[in-house]
Amino acid sequence: MNVRADFPQLTRFINGKPIVYLDSTATSLKPRSVIDKINEYYTQYTANVFRGIYTTSEEATSEYEKAREKVATFIHATPHEIVFTRSTTESLNLLAYSLHPKEVVASILEHHSNFVPWQQLSYLTVWDPEKPIDSVMTNKTDIFAITAVSNVTGIIMPIKDIVRTVKGINPKCLIVVDAAQAVPHMPVDVADWGADFVAFSSHKMLGPTGVGVLWGRRQLLEEMKPFNYGGEMISEVHVDRTVFKEPPHKFEAGTPHIAGVIGLGAAVDYLTKLGMDNVRKHEEELVSYAIKKFKEVRGLRFVGPDIRSGVFAFTMEKVHPHDIAQILNEDNIFVRAGNHCAMPLHEHLGIVATARASFYVYTTKEDIDALILGLQKIQKLFS
Ligand code: ALA
Repeated sequence: MNVRADFPQLTRFINGKPIVYLDSTATSLKPRSVIDKINEYYTQYTANVFRGIYTTSEEATSEYEKAREKVATFIHATPHEIVFTRSTTESLNLLAYSLHPKEVVASILEHHSNFVPWQQLSYLTVWDPEKPIDSVMTNKTDIFAITAVSNVTGIIMPIKDIVRTVKGINPKCLIVVDAAQAVPHMPVDVADWGADFVAFSSHKMLGPTGVGVLWGRRQLLEEMKPFNYGGEMISEVHVDRTVFKEPPHKFEAGTPHIAGVIGLGAAVDYLTKLGMDNVRKHEEELVSYAIKKFKEVRGLRFVGPDIRSGVFAFTMEKVHPHDIAQILNEDNIFVRAGNHCAMPLHEHLGIVATARASFYVYTTKEDIDALILGLQKIQKLFS
């Protein structure tokens, strides 16, 4: 995959050295076409959406709604099932507040965003994927919350099978999928998954920060209460009552992140042109290469299976993960260290923290070679 020239940040040198960006699981770099599209909104048709009947407002509204159509096509959904939020986290909070379920099951793999809202607002039971689902579910379970891809172990969960099993146990249980690490990295077909809600973020899929997506089944979105109240989500307001708009607008109160949504549309165009099968294939090649190269670093252990998405959380004997990240930074090799917003999973694995290297469309084998050299240097320093 030869796309590096599309990403301006990759031409940057810091202290005379190029950068090796290995933190795409936290956020992805942005291609020129996305930056240009955001710029186009700010320089050509800055106006609010849905409000004006003048040309630039109509242009902005049309681009905003075109982005919704692109996102829908990308995940095999229909546009009126696509709600724009601020982030995956907000999409999941929207569900937790609007549905207000009594009993929730969430897997131990979850990012805090698909864990803490349920823990705080509902009665939460935790599922260990090594155990059968019926060991934790009852006919009272309202929500089953599951990540499609772990941001720590990179494991790709069999969502379709999980949906079938959960619905087999309790057909009324709603399934919420955190797809923040799946939609950017592999083909996703929400219709094929069969879940009820799917959440993901623009900034992890080459788009701008500040935009999240919530896909939900139309009928459920119709039945649900709004999450925020205010402008743009209403069709009538009287002193004694308000009539809300139909979904998705019912869930988009206030002026949205217009430039962000339009930028996400450009990111979807970019990924569609690359082809999501090719994106996945590129990452599979990087994953096999990295697994081979990691063997050259004594004392390195990564968590999770060999078949995975392009993310590796790892430890090294005698070195704290924060030291790994800090020393690599001296050579402009950027990785994340800590618990990666997945503290329950780290506790479950008996690890306080890990260092994490993650890949995307612009990552090359040379980036992995640079990481390995950096890790070998650290190994010598601490031996
Ligand atoms: N969820 C992001 C990560 O895993 C921030 O780094």
